[in-house]
Amino acid sequence: MRPLIAGNWKMNKLSADAALLAGGLADRRGRQGDPGCEILLCPPSVLLTGVAAALVDSAIALGAQDCHPAESGAHTGDISAALLADAGCAYVIVGHSERRTDHGETDALVKAKAEAALRHGLVAIVCVGETLDQRDGGRALEVVSRQIEGSLPDGASAGNIVIAYEPVWAIGTGRTPTPDQIAEVHAHIRGALGGLDDGAGVRILYGGSMKPDNAREILAIAHVNGGLIGGASLAVDDFWSICEAVA
Ligand code: PGA
Repeated sequence: MRPLIAGNWKMNKLSADAALLAGGLADRRGRQGDPGCEILLCPPSVLLTGVAAALVDSAIALGAQDCHPAESGAHTGDISAALLADAGCAYVIVGHSERRTDHGETDALVKAKAEAALRHGLVAIVCVGETLDQRDGGRALEVVSRQIEGSLPDGASAGNIVIAYEPVWAIGTGRTPTPDQIAEVHAHIRGALGGLDDGAGVRILYGGSMKPDNAREILAIAHVNGGLIGGASLAVDDFWSICEAVA
């Protein structure tokens, strides 16, 4: 299966910097060729159109960081999956832990968002992961199982979903789980996907303080099929090094 390296820009960059970053990566991809993975950029929604323009003919995909579950209507400030598809997105992240925390998103809401994504032909990147308390309490696998069960859209398959395992305590902290801890959770998730159509083909990304200096080791772990990168996706050199680390 082809690994996916996805950059989650979160609420960073203004339009001029975004064009430089996306354009720089498009240029790198053009000059250096295929690093052996699919590459995806997920900028803030108001930057999607500008980033799409910078990525034309680049072999780099565009995605968003969230969508609303409804088709359209009276939802001030929200963005539908249809709008994202119309803006050129192929992917949308749903259920990121920052949205689960900042906006009180439940598994049921994440599932509804993922289903909206699928209706519009977007691949939903469904995020799961335990807090530090949950890990210290020995409940990491149980939490991840519950999130998977509650958040996956009906009709999920290898072609329309990606899972991102992101331990909350590793995001933006510089702390990463040990390779054994990552391997344990990814194998567990692979097992949990067993009931899906082609569950063995669903890509499972690791996310949380993945950087150029730890990416190669993490990406070599069984059932790690790519990464969801926050901080290290904000500079061309760092992000490109992570893309090259899949080889
Ligand atoms: P980080 O964020 O790489 O900055 O830890 C990852 C994420 O939250 O997707």
